[in-house]
Amino acid sequence: MSKLRILVTGGAGFLGSSLCQYLVEEGHLVVALDSLFRGTKENLSDILNADNFQFIHGDVRNVDVLDSTVESLGGLDLIYHLAAVNGTKWFHEAAHSVIDVNINGTLRTLELAMAHEARYVFASSPEAFGETEIQPISDGNLMQFTNPAEHQRHSYGGSKYLGEIACQHAAREGLDVRIIRPFNAYGPKLLGDQYGQVVSIFFNKILNNEILNIHGDGSQTRSFTWIDDVTDGFVKAGLLDSGIEGSNLSGHAFNIGSTEEISIANLAKTIIETSGKNDVEQQTVVGYYGDSNRRLPDIKNSKNLLGWLSKVSLQDGLNMMWKELTNPNQP
Ligand SMILES: NC(=O)c1ccc[n+]([C@@H]2O[C@H](COP(=O)([O-])OP(=O)(O)OC[C@H]3O[C@@H](n4cnc5c(N)ncnc54)[C@H](O)[C@@H]3O)[C@@H](O)[C@H]2O)c1
Repeated sequence: MSKLRILVTGGAGFLGSSLCQYLVEEGHLVVALDSLFRGTKENLSDILNADNFQFIHGDVRNVDVLDSTVESLGGLDLIYHLAAVNGTKWFHEAAHSVIDVNINGTLRTLELAMAHEARYVFASSPEAFGETEIQPISDGNLMQFTNPAEHQRHSYGGSKYLGEIACQHAAREGLDVRIIRPFNAYGPKLLGDQYGQVVSIFFNKILNNEILNIHGDGSQTRSFTWIDDVTDGFVKAGLLDSGIEGSNLSGHAFNIGSTEEISIANLAKTIIETSGKNDVEQQTVVGYYGDSNRRLPDIKNSKNLLGWLSKVSLQDGLNMMWKELTNPNQP
């Protein structure tokens, strides 16, 4: 495979840093752009000094910064656009910024891709489907949002929905665009602060001998997907010139998620068992408005067009994560 010049926006974040690491190890020339709003340079510590990697600290909405990334790369073959304000608490607390960063970041990077005729991969989300009850989440399902006067949760999902519209429009104009919807990725570098996300929050609470908060009655389910499986989905969607059976990939959306569904109450139980601690306390608290009851992926497109399947079971992933959190230097 030829070596590509690749821009990864949000490259210091949880998913972006894992993707950058893979691409750099494959020999591609990679620039990671990140404002460090939530990402860290530490996430990139393994590749920061690599000859084929550069980190640029800047805002994805700034066209001068975007142009400088292309200058550093000496051209542009592929954009992975992952920069976004992520983390559920922000969606309610900072809806204006979520909309601004997520929508304008997507529009500016799409324009950059068009100017350089680069392939474009957009990190969307199952939240682009809003509060639809139809599961599994499949292309063609209704994307349904509630009254913004009730809550602003969908500043995020709405921004991903509009991002998908902008991507589909660009695809119709001739740009090679692929859309990825990751389903609750988890792994050792996942943040577990008050803004999200649940697997890390639970592990952190256990490590700090604190009480686990279960939102609502805990019956809501999610499909947690190991970081390497999600990274593999991004890699395939970006690097394959065509689908495994020769089809055109542009304009397709790929649900990248495990089909192993688990309730949040059972997740708490499984994580406690994984930690081997038997004195962890739990309590139920009021959840976030607009939190969906289920988020289960239909992975037909990913399987048939990309040859993608999740390989790591939830229990294996949780074991690996606990081991890394408690013994980071052990092989
Ligand atoms: N992790 C998941 O399970 C999941 C699920 C669905 C969608 N996604 C999407 O995948 C992408 C990556 O998610 P993640 O989990 O790595 O989140 P993350 O918060 O770790 O990464 C996003 C990165 O974008 C950066 N960023 C924020 N605002 C920026 C700005 N104005 N300019 C430049 N950089 C900016 C942040 O600092 C962060 O490093 C996001 O677009 C997210 O919406 C993730």
